[in-house]
Amino acid sequence: MSSNCSVVSLVPFDRTFLERSFLWLNDPEIRFLTDTPAVTREAQEAWFAGLPARDDYAVWGVLAEGEPVGVCGIKHINDGEGEYFGYIGEKAYWGRGVGRRMMALTEGKARERGLRRLCLTVLHANERALGLYGKCGYHSVRSDEKYTYMSKSVMIPYCSLKEITALHADEIHEAVDRVVDSGWYLQGMENKRFEQEYADYIGTKYCVGVANGLDALIWIIRAYLEMGVMQKGDEVIVPANTYIASILAITENGLTPVLVEPDIETLEIDDRLIEDAITPRTKAVMIVHLYGRCAYTDKIGDICRNHGLKLIEDNAQAHGCRFKSGKRTGSLGDAAGHSFYPGKNLGAFGDGGAVTTDDEELAKVVRTLANYGSSKKYVFDYCGRNSRLDEIQAAILSAKLKHLDEDNELRRQVARYYLEHIDNPAITLPQVPDWNANVFHIFPVLCERRDDLQQYLKDNGVQTLIHYPIPPHKQKCYADWNGWSFPVSERIHREELSLPFSPALTADEIRTVVDLLNRWK
Ligand SMILES: Cc1ncc(COP(=O)(O)O)c(C=O)c1O
Repeated sequence: MSSNCSVVSLVPFDRTFLERSFLWLNDPEIRFLTDTPAVTREAQEAWFAGLPARDDYAVWGVLAEGEPVGVCGIKHINDGEGEYFGYIGEKAYWGRGVGRRMMALTEGKARERGLRRLCLTVLHANERALGLYGKCGYHSVRSDEKYTYMSKSVMIPYCSLKEITALHADEIHEAVDRVVDSGWYLQGMENKRFEQEYADYIGTKYCVGVANGLDALIWIIRAYLEMGVMQKGDEVIVPANTYIASILAITENGLTPVLVEPDIETLEIDDRLIEDAITPRTKAVMIVHLYGRCAYTDKIGDICRNHGLKLIEDNAQAHGCRFKSGKRTGSLGDAAGHSFYPGKNLGAFGDGGAVTTDDEELAKVVRTLANYGSSKKYVFDYCGRNSRLDEIQAAILSAKLKHLDEDNELRRQVARYYLEHIDNPAITLPQVPDWNANVFHIFPVLCERRDDLQQYLKDNGVQTLIHYPIPPHKQKCYADWNGWSFPVSERIHREELSLPFSPALTADEIRTVVDLLNRWK
């Protein structure tokens, strides 16, 4: 690319450009290059005069090295999309990288206006333009005898909840209406139904709906305390790279988390290190099915059995995931906490959570604790809290649960495309030895220059997230641990980048992300 690129800018399309563009448009060669229809001066003047009143058009003049060299813009702006048009009128600037820069600048403008996609139409005969747009990440969507129609996603959200909701909108609206019309908003039939459906889905005898995923984990440990299975000061083994909630649930109950490094290959707790972390005070291992991947291994099951430890699953991120035995995560241990935070694979329209277990007593104590400590109206067995799942959330979750497996399959298709097409030695992709054991809540890649990569994607309209930027032991809330060292976990926190991911991502968006990643150096 020539050095001109750095001095290309877009400026308001004023009279200077109008005059220039009229000259340029009279040149038959330019028309050939750009598929701009020939227009009379009068028509162009009229069009220009009408522009300020239109919100379906945007047009800019292009300056290169301070010289007016062309015009570009977006036409037919509607519903998050628009059609790119542009031409370089000064032939001296052809083939010098101005076109690419013009396109990139227009995409930036499109993003500023909240547009998600740009399309364009190119004459087949115009090989120069086809080549240029291809290099700029435009994909051919169809063609007829004269034109190729291309498009490109210019703004890709990490995950659009609006679009995920749209996948099942009718059933969700029906569920909400049902609750609104029922006049019963707490502890009713919707909760009962969802708890039964979710227990059946996960494969446990019991499910207790609670207010959120953190509470689900808190109540499991608190119930074990009330049942005399655990004492304050006991230890719970937990992965060092988990989301803070897993650890908060332990410290909130006055127990001690014992952090264990993850395996850099799986990003899940390293089962080879668990046994060494066991002490006489260890009462449980909490595994976290992080990123939607099954963290359970036969070895972990054996360790818990052999040492008489409870196995608690944090299944906030892995609804629908199955271990190789076919059992679902959430049914592999003694008890599991689930979060229905809106962005989760099974997400509510607010907070929500659940505990699943085969242990009847545990389920009963959890239900009581989450209802002020009351199992009978106005009789209080424990100092509990108000931590219940709303009827409206339960109804929505029931509606969405029916589609969870198909939504997870869509997630797998996105993951497959990423895994098969991302090809950049600087980016390490997640390993997937068993497709059943992964529901891709998050698609994590590792990259030594993670922050540069994130900025590059952002500059190109792709939103990514980091799960998570600061490890729990470096957080202010656990200041006493800040000097501890967990190099594997710290590396993950330093290098992890979560690519755009949702069952609602379009093929165009996925391809755009892949193209950008493969071009990154
Ligand atoms: C691994 C993990 N555990 C627990 C939670 C807590 O769930 P909630 O946000 O519903 O309290 C989350 C939520 O983000 C999570 O990712």
